[in-house]
Amino acid sequence: MTRHASPYLIPGFYETALSQGKHRDIVGGRWEETALAQMDVLHKAGLQPHHRLLDIGCGCLRLGYMAVPYLNPGHYWGTDASAGLMRRGWEVELTDADRSRLPLSQLIEDADFAFPDVPDDITHAIAWGVFTHLPAAPLRPALARLRQFPRLEMLLVTVFLVPEGHQGPLRQPDGVVTHPDRTPWHRPAAAVEADARAAGWQIDWPEARLPRGQRLARMQPL
Ligand SMILES: C[S@@+](CC[C@H](N)C(=O)[O-])C[C@H]1O[C@@H](n2cnc3c(N)ncnc32)[C@H](O)[C@@H]1O
Repeated sequence: MTRHASPYLIPGFYETALSQGKHRDIVGGRWEETALAQMDVLHKAGLQPHHRLLDIGCGCLRLGYMAVPYLNPGHYWGTDASAGLMRRGWEVELTDADRSRLPLSQLIEDADFAFPDVPDDITHAIAWGVFTHLPAAPLRPALARLRQFPRLEMLLVTVFLVPEGHQGPLRQPDGVVTHPDRTPWHRPAAAVEADARAAGWQIDWPEARLPRGQRLARMQPL
């Protein structure tokens, strides 16, 4: 059987799960807990209702269903590899009032981290549980593209970390087993830091206990 770099690359993955009504499973479940954890790190990063948030790899709006009513109308944008997944979240997980605060045109299909049609005035961005499912290569160019948003002051990215020199799989604090060569992927902190700095970001690792033992990288423009 072919081993895919990411479960999201398995042919038919989204279609099958969506046809079975399993959109929450696609993003890993733990719905309210994970949304609250994301809102918490965003608040600690200074997010306020007047800010403009880009949710990279937003899935079916597990963060969006809390962030959209928090932010001023029209101040949330999401990108994801699957338009169908985002649309299902918009239809099923948002209230009527919140749908009117988030035009569908602000949910943008983008599997290349190119951020097409995302406006220049976003101030905060988050990629939660996205690069955890991808090999190392896409991170640095994605960070470099994000550096081109002139008002982006805070970027939060979750990853799985591994101690320098560790070989093979690693059991993370929340029990998830991560790998150097397949999903879910882990990397040494220094490798993530090198990508961030090369792309024009300063980076630190605020203490935060996140679901599944992910670590939060907090980045600000260098
Ligand atoms: C674990 S889920 C997390 C979703 C969301 N950030 C959340 O916390 O609910 C990973 C998400 O990354 C998306 N994804 C996977 N590969 C991607 C890529 N190359 N570009 C954009 N999104 C991607 C998936 O479709 C999925 O929605």
